[in-house]
Amino acid sequence: MNQQTVTITDNRTGKTMNCPIKTGTEGASVIDGQALYKELGLFTLDPAFLTTASCESKITFIDGEKGILLYRGYPIEQLAEHSSYPEVCYLLLYGELPTSDQMEDFKHTVCQHTLLHEGLVNFYKGFRHDAHPMAMLVGVVGALSGYYPDAMDISNPEHCNKSAIRLIAKMPTIAANIHKYLIGQAYVYPRNDISYVSNFMQMMFAVPSETYQFNEIANRALEVMLILHADHEQNASTSTVRLAGSSQAHPFSCVAGGIATLWGPAHGGANEAVIRLLQEIKTPKNIPEYIRRFKDKNDPMKLMGFGHRVYKNYDPRAKIIRKICHNLLQELGTQDQPLFEVALELEKIALSDDYFIERKLYPNVDFYSGLILKALGIPLNMFTVIFAVARSVGWIAQWMEMTEDANLKIGRPRQLYIGNKRRDYVPVAKR
Ligand code: CMC
Repeated sequence: MNQQTVTITDNRTGKTMNCPIKTGTEGASVIDGQALYKELGLFTLDPAFLTTASCESKITFIDGEKGILLYRGYPIEQLAEHSSYPEVCYLLLYGELPTSDQMEDFKHTVCQHTLLHEGLVNFYKGFRHDAHPMAMLVGVVGALSGYYPDAMDISNPEHCNKSAIRLIAKMPTIAANIHKYLIGQAYVYPRNDISYVSNFMQMMFAVPSETYQFNEIANRALEVMLILHADHEQNASTSTVRLAGSSQAHPFSCVAGGIATLWGPAHGGANEAVIRLLQEIKTPKNIPEYIRRFKDKNDPMKLMGFGHRVYKNYDPRAKIIRKICHNLLQELGTQDQPLFEVALELEKIALSDDYFIERKLYPNVDFYSGLILKALGIPLNMFTVIFAVARSVGWIAQWMEMTEDANLKIGRPRQLYIGNKRRDYVPVAKR
């Protein structure tokens, strides 16, 4: 069969070129425009990547129109129901679900790397007592690269795998230590005899003077949250990790860049912003006034947890989270039911409002996730840190995939220059 192409004609010169169309296993095909500059002397302009695929990937697939999310082909709904976070980590990293032996080996290997170098633990003391946990996370994960100069060769798969394992193992310890540091409690060291999620919980909430009581319902809720946030193809933070990684920098410093990107309210910071918004709205009777503000172009306020660059339908993760949230609040009997009621009513009103309908704005993963984290006793400013713990496997899996590309080149976008043309320097006395 002939190669399918798109013909581009430069109307200024009449020159044409045929760009190949590449088709993947699912989703939209792409125009391969890599030869565009060579053939026509043109770049494409797409600052927010609205129509630009930045790489080929086998890891995660999203159909934003239909609300589908697959990790390595497996639907997120099935993984959320049947899988565990470590199993999802294995799947994302190595492409297949593990056998039970492979799973045991993987869990054992991860357990061997949960401790932090004590030098890194001391590093925490340099932060202010009121530092934002995400500021600390960016710093500590960046600093982690200083402790592992032995795994710098990105062309060596063993080095890459070691970095992946270290990151997945240490992220809960790093995150829990941030929480403990900020509330002035003793760090709780990791336990290798319990599950990944139970260990994370006990590092977050145990105190040396008492025996920690595990709660299976809470553990499962956190496990599902980690699964749902584990990867999301080429989002802003993952693209940051890949771009930084394309220069062959240390993987942990690349991940620190991803964490910095995740922090913003347009990305992972939205889970924290949603709760602040729900607390501000307070009661369903105030919703209409807020809806008016969300729609007002002169008012910067947005309905946090709504809208998505890719999903023009209900985010499949939000559907799962909404259900868990409902069950969790009932099971734990927390004080958060009124906030959940506000969220449900807000969703209902927004989904029947023309502004949101026309723009295809639906709840995203962050709309209900904050309520779950709050019910688990996690403080608001730690929400995005939990997201980062979950997403670390996605970042490192995408980074590993990139390092395996035999044609890896440094990422280097071009620009449309709109500044001054060449001009001569004017001595200060003549300005
Ligand atoms: N509230 C009110 N209006 C909105 C919202 C919202 N949450 N989201 C989008 N719009 C409007 C936007 O003003 C624009 O209107 P118009 O066409 O009249 O100019 C239209 O909808 C299209 O929005 P956009 O800003 O062009 O869409 P985008 O793809 O650039 O941005 C987004 C996507 C997620 C940044 C945005 O929807 C948003 O800021 N949402 C709130 C923050 C949020 O929940 N972020 C979490 C995203 S999911 C998790 C993650 O990525 O980590």
